[in-house]
Amino acid sequence: MKTLVLANQKGGVGKSAIVVQLAYYLHLLLNLRVLVIDLDHQRNTTNPIRNGKLATVSQIPSSSILLKKVSGVEDAAFVLLAGDNTELLKMEKQAANHNIFASNLQAFLKSVDGDFDVCLIDTNPNPDIRQLAALVVSDFVLSPIQLNQEAIDGIGDLLNHENIGIRKIQATINPTLQFIGILPNLVEPTPFQRDNLRELSAHFAKLLIPMNPGFAAIKKTTAVPESQAAGVPIWKLGKTSGRDAWTQIKPVFEKIATTMGVM
Ligand SMILES: Nc1ncnc2c1ncn2[C@@H]1O[C@H](COP(=O)(O)OP(=O)(O)OP(=O)(O)O)[C@@H](O)[C@H]1O
Ligand SMILES: [Mg+2]
Repeated sequence: MKTLVLANQKGGVGKSAIVVQLAYYLHLLLNLRVLVIDLDHQRNTTNPIRNGKLATVSQIPSSSILLKKVSGVEDAAFVLLAGDNTELLKMEKQAANHNIFASNLQAFLKSVDGDFDVCLIDTNPNPDIRQLAALVVSDFVLSPIQLNQEAIDGIGDLLNHENIGIRKIQATINPTLQFIGILPNLVEPTPFQRDNLRELSAHFAKLLIPMNPGFAAIKKTTAVPESQAAGVPIWKLGKTSGRDAWTQIKPVFEKIATTMGVM
């Protein structure tokens, strides 16, 4: 099983939308066994997947796999460990148990290693134990970003934050963590965003995900919130906007799956 965490301390950049749609892609189109873990109390991954009724929602809430020793989940090929809004929020205050939370998560993932091909973890946009634990146990990390100045300024933190910077984690607790890269999302065809993309590719070319041509990016489209609201795969939205969006998102997802070695 390959584990991918979506992480960025910036909120609203599309982490949850990408987790949901990537899970659908990996399971429905690539026939992979997919486990989704929603570590965000906002539950923006849980709600669409629950509504869509395409996955088995586990009896185990996601907080349990950090708080307790849990091994195994329901026997199904597409399983969601749903987020909850009480236990997940309490974890940060239990500093004395933070190491245990991370090792419980690691042990849980080991227990389901043979049952799934891919595990996707959605995180909350705070530099806390949930995000740290997810980065410590993952094989890959992907960071959606918006093309505004604050987000670009935030890339330094994304890499070098003292607790959860990706480079920090790679240099210390998880040397095998592979950074798939920064994925510009909600991209708009404005001169401002074009300039920001130019700045990003000039300064951070190595962090972007190379595609032919250019770099991976996802445009702003009504198809994403509409698919999320209905809990459906974008390509099944049944609208021109959905088909157009899928034409540009599919190659990005293919690239992610190829990088993870699952297709
Ligand atoms: N490419 C896109 N085009 C249009 N809307 C999008 C796109 N990607 C995401 N969105 C919408 O933007 C909003 C924020 O996305 P999402 O909830 O996935 O971000 P997030 O990074 O998970 O946020 P948080 O940090 O709060 O968890 C949602 O309403 C989502 O449907
Ligand atoms: Mg989210």
